[in-house]
Amino acid sequence: MSNYHIKHLEEYYQVYRKSVRAPKQFWEEIAEEHFLWHKKWDNVLSWDFKKPEVKWFEGAKLNITVNCIDRHLVTKANKTALLFEPNDPNSEAQHITYQQLHDSVCQFANVLKAKGITKGDRVCIYLPMIPELAIATLACARIGAIHSVVFAGFSATALATRINDSDCKMVITSDGAYRGAKTIDLKGIVDDALENCAGVATVLVAKHINTDIAMVSGRDEWLQPLLDAAATTCAPEIMDAEDPLFILYTSGSTGMPKGMVHTTGGYMVYTAYTFKNVFQYKEDDVYWCTADIGWITGHSYIVYGPLANGATTLMFEGVPSYPDFGRFWQIVEKHKVNQFYTAPTAIRALAKEGLELVEQYDLSSLKVLGSVGEPINEEAWHWYNDNIGKKQSPIVDTWWQTETGGIMITPIPFATPTKPTYATLPFPGIQPALMDDKGVELKENQVSGRLCIKFPWPSMARTIWGNHQRYKDTYFSAFENTYFTGDGALRDEVGYYRITGRVDDVIIVSGHNLGTAPIEDAINEHPAVAESAIVGFPHDIKGNALYGYVILKDVGESRNQDNLRKEINQIITEHVGPIAKLDKIQFTSGLPKTRSGKIMRRILRKIACNDTANLGDTSTLLNPEVVEAIMANAI
Ligand code: WT7
Repeated sequence: MSNYHIKHLEEYYQVYRKSVRAPKQFWEEIAEEHFLWHKKWDNVLSWDFKKPEVKWFEGAKLNITVNCIDRHLVTKANKTALLFEPNDPNSEAQHITYQQLHDSVCQFANVLKAKGITKGDRVCIYLPMIPELAIATLACARIGAIHSVVFAGFSATALATRINDSDCKMVITSDGAYRGAKTIDLKGIVDDALENCAGVATVLVAKHINTDIAMVSGRDEWLQPLLDAAATTCAPEIMDAEDPLFILYTSGSTGMPKGMVHTTGGYMVYTAYTFKNVFQYKEDDVYWCTADIGWITGHSYIVYGPLANGATTLMFEGVPSYPDFGRFWQIVEKHKVNQFYTAPTAIRALAKEGLELVEQYDLSSLKVLGSVGEPINEEAWHWYNDNIGKKQSPIVDTWWQTETGGIMITPIPFATPTKPTYATLPFPGIQPALMDDKGVELKENQVSGRLCIKFPWPSMARTIWGNHQRYKDTYFSAFENTYFTGDGALRDEVGYYRITGRVDDVIIVSGHNLGTAPIEDAINEHPAVAESAIVGFPHDIKGNALYGYVILKDVGESRNQDNLRKEINQIITEHVGPIAKLDKIQFTSGLPKTRSGKIMRRILRKIACNDTANLGDTSTLLNPEVVEAIMANAI
């Protein structure tokens, strides 16, 4: 039996039990057998959740790009590493082999060095989904610079905040970006941001959309001529396993974004191991994750995890709606994609467009379908399963977080029987626990509580950049000696986990704990409903009551709204119980969403509570205009 590649359910249980019984031995074996280390560790793990301090593979030396690129050159030099599909469907896809990736990463690394970047320096990468993004990321890792990738949809203010928080010396960007039929002036956004960032000495600019842009002399340089002049070899910087690999910002419930710090050795081992098993990647498969590298999903499951396994990883520059809503399926057919990993919000958007755009394409290459980022509602799960997977491709509903670095709770396809809306079982090495409000662990099945992780895992974030106290307060203070995820979950009779949503979204109605996700699932079952969001508002008798924002599929629908309200409450009564009925239902054309597609409930909650004087920071919203409309029609 191989611990590294799990193929059956019994194997999963055996491996899982071993990972809990003898975690150090378990991880040591995986690290030893499947990676290249310049020097082995002195100690597999030391940890103290009170400080908190966690160290994996202490004393080991390595470079992650050697593991992601160089070691594959012996057998896979001509295999496609990065498969780039551009925004414009008529432009040619680019197949970048492992050898070409090696050469490009080394050239880029040499440019960074020539510009004075050294081990430990922070480099901000603000690029669209083009090959330079993956290459720049790996080039930083090659020389031990700490990359901070900022999603290229963030505004100048958000970018400046992130550049300054981690004192980046350099920004890597492009002249612009395509977004469907539109172009975005990325360089202009960087220029605006840098008015408030004194520490940035150099801006490297990739030519992509070929617009005329202003270059600040002494600061800005075109990337290509520098790359062309650089050597295609670059000795990898030898890193400690616990040296930071990257910083990635994630928004907190309050305050500044948190710069989560991930380190090198444990992150590599865990992302590679999860990638192999969660997607059951086989040699010659084409794997596609639709996320942006600006999010943790892209870091771990477009770049590091797939490349550490010598996989072919597809990078798509565009959006699901351009030139039409069939684009994803057209790409699946064109590149014969075997594993497809996306977010429920995308699935719901595509499901709304009808089946003609799906049926035109041959999706028979697909073997595994993934979901990530939010609870997948039952209707979306079935649509995905029936129409994309044709009931042949298991859906892996993967629960994890920016902070966890890798997938934590997930089915293993072809091993774990799936169950709609359940992320199912913990991955080997992960020890989840459900806590009640008082911090007592609920040990039995068929309970719900706050989701915590009791034991360290290799890819957990080690700190928040520049603010270890906040790291401690946010994740290690709610419950003693355990990592608190901020999510609520339930465990069913066989031990499967269902993530019910952020705990801050839990609403107590007449003394009953109601997760928002199951209620939204129920509402979305109504044939006229496209999407919904529930928040609580104060109620004299119940403590809290529920306020629902509902998007109808057909805006022109002339149905009687009071009848619709009754039907929605009837469905909730059937699926969840009468306690979960909504007191107020507002029909709306949109919901405020973050750029990663998550509903900003904080804003909806304030509107429901008629507390709109200070809506807080709306700068990260994808669609700020929708807030006004919702406020104007609030009940
Ligand atoms: C939060 C983390 C990790 C990748 C992208 C999001 C929610 C994530 C699931 C899932 C239910 C999920 C949780 C989590 N979440 N995956 N499969 N089912 N909820 O990363 O932005 O750090 O967000 O996303 O609430 O805490 P993130």
